[in-house]
Amino acid sequence: MYLVTGATGGLGRRIIRLLREREQAVRAFVRLTSRYGELESRGAQIFIGDLLENRDIQKACQGVQYVISAHGSNATTRGGAQALDYRANIDLIDAAKDSGVQHFVFISVLGADRGYEDAPVFKAKWAVEQYLKNSGLNYTILRPSGFSSNLIPLAEQFRQTGIYLLVGDPQSRTSIVSTDDLARIAVESATTAAATNQILAVGGPEVLDRAEIPKIFGRIFDREPLILNPPIVALDAVRTVLGLVNPSVQKSLGTLRTLLDNEFFCTPAEIANLESIFNFKLETLEAFLRRYVSV
Ligand SMILES: NC(=O)c1ccc[n+]([C@@H]2O[C@H](COP(=O)([O-])OP(=O)(O)OC[C@H]3O[C@@H](n4cnc5c(N)ncnc54)[C@H](OP(=O)(O)O)[C@@H]3O)[C@@H](O)[C@H]2O)c1
Repeated sequence: MYLVTGATGGLGRRIIRLLREREQAVRAFVRLTSRYGELESRGAQIFIGDLLENRDIQKACQGVQYVISAHGSNATTRGGAQALDYRANIDLIDAAKDSGVQHFVFISVLGADRGYEDAPVFKAKWAVEQYLKNSGLNYTILRPSGFSSNLIPLAEQFRQTGIYLLVGDPQSRTSIVSTDDLARIAVESATTAAATNQILAVGGPEVLDRAEIPKIFGRIFDREPLILNPPIVALDAVRTVLGLVNPSVQKSLGTLRTLLDNEFFCTPAEIANLESIFNFKLETLEAFLRRYVSV
């Protein structure tokens, strides 16, 4: 039995779909308010709970062999990254240990090891990585770059307007990962010997300037992109104003700022290593988007 947290998220849904296609038993940890109908109809066992409640975590881990931690906070999460990205994962690791789990897969983030001070999610991921490494559990830590599925709604907007909003430096580099490839890597990490007790950077097969993304949209929709390119200080101004009303939102926007103001890409050697461990070719951003958007 696999336990997947964040099962209704962009990545978690794909992990559940893949496990069910492979006829694996999977328990999906969902909130009562989540949209989990699709997971249920695919044959996942639905566990309703809240990751902010340690009791629920302990119960969800019973009878489980593999845990895939794929949940994550956003600007509205009660308690922020500290509660969900840090504490809930620590509780999950402890409960997995108590339940005799064979392998724990943790979705971290590319750059978790860079010590970004203004990014609560990065700090939480780094602290969880250290805890997991020292837990005695078999583990795989995956550090993905940005997900290609985040770009689907932006592509749909682009199709209608031709406009692309690019905040920050257009020349900064990224290697956006196919969310389907990442789901496959997460699933296979649990049972692949070469992935055991490894920390793996996970990106797409090509390093792109961020300015390449609207060009890809332009090719897909056969439309010349109009790029709006505000500087990063525009986000700082929004943050300052929001901070007057809601300091916790201001804090959580630090993660977004870190993402927009730094480069997140994998080296060719890291990509070759992934392709060799998991024995498949990673998909480009353009190939992913062409499968998902209607032209
Ligand atoms: N997106 C990216 O570009 C990116 C890049 C690098 C790393 N990551 C990491 O990859 C993982 C997956 O990201 P994603 O984009 O797929 O996430 P996502 O779409 O934002 O989904 C977050 C998931 O967490 C669940 N969740 C939130 N609070 C919860 C709670 N209190 N109890 C139970 N479940 C709760 C949400 O459930 P509801 O449906 O109920 O809201 C949802 O299923 C995260 O750890 C993220 O930090 C993401």
